[in-house]
Amino acid sequence: MPELLMKIARKMPAGIKDRLQPLKHPMDGWLIRRIHSISGNTVAQGPFKGLKYFGYHEVAFLLGTYEKEVFPAIERILEGEYTDIVSIGAASGFYVAGLARRYPKARLYAFETSELHQGYIRENVEANVPGSSLQVYGECRPTDLANVIPQQARTLVVSDVEGAELDLLDPSLAPQLKNSTLLVETHDPLRPGCTQGMLDWFGETHLIERIHSQERTLADFPYPALTRPAFMMANSALRAMSEFRAGPQEWLLMTPKG
Ligand SMILES: C[S@@+](CC[C@H](N)C(=O)[O-])C[C@H]1O[C@@H](n2cnc3c(N)ncnc32)[C@H](O)[C@@H]1O
Repeated sequence: MPELLMKIARKMPAGIKDRLQPLKHPMDGWLIRRIHSISGNTVAQGPFKGLKYFGYHEVAFLLGTYEKEVFPAIERILEGEYTDIVSIGAASGFYVAGLARRYPKARLYAFETSELHQGYIRENVEANVPGSSLQVYGECRPTDLANVIPQQARTLVVSDVEGAELDLLDPSLAPQLKNSTLLVETHDPLRPGCTQGMLDWFGETHLIERIHSQERTLADFPYPALTRPAFMMANSALRAMSEFRAGPQEWLLMTPKG
């Protein structure tokens, strides 16, 4: 784009920029429509392959590339047996719905502040596991986990709450967490000390595996025919897989030692 147009574009309000985005990347819309049509709104690959999914920014989820670096940890999680599954920061319910398919009899709890997302959580779980025990709550507060998780449960907790993990996962507030398996995305850039806080809390009671975020490449894209010709489609495919991360990110898989 000529420099003058670039200058004008940079100064535009965000709402107008969003509307003009298709002009900047005209093939993106076509690719996204093809992905929806080919996938039939089901996840293409990974541990949640076959999951019916609708939600916000859903394309990366449908491609089965969303949080792909965590897949090996999820495969190991799926070898366990759980009576209770808690998703904190459940967003549109990708994890809780994916886990519900594997554990249809487990009690399911999803915490999500956004009402828009809460609707998707209900729809996604119901579409995949009709008649589940799902309970959807709003904002998770520090004492909520202690109240929600039954004492004798075998619990799996999946957490992605933008730094609030340092308020919510304290095992002195919810002792049930000492026996729970936890997959926690930490957010040190937003809340310094999150990762260390988890290591301090769970280092003695749990085996902890640290997983680091990775950039997606075209090799991750499940529909290679759609990325040709590469000179037109490669960047659209990479944008479709984008998770809009500001920088490197980390997850902790924490499995009770006992
Ligand atoms: C980055 S998103 C999680 C994405 C999720 N990993 C997925 O698979 O879709 C973080 C979500 O946490 C929610 N959130 C943040 N703090 C929360 C809290 N204390 N209780 C419940 N939800 C919270 C936000 O509304 C947001 O939807």
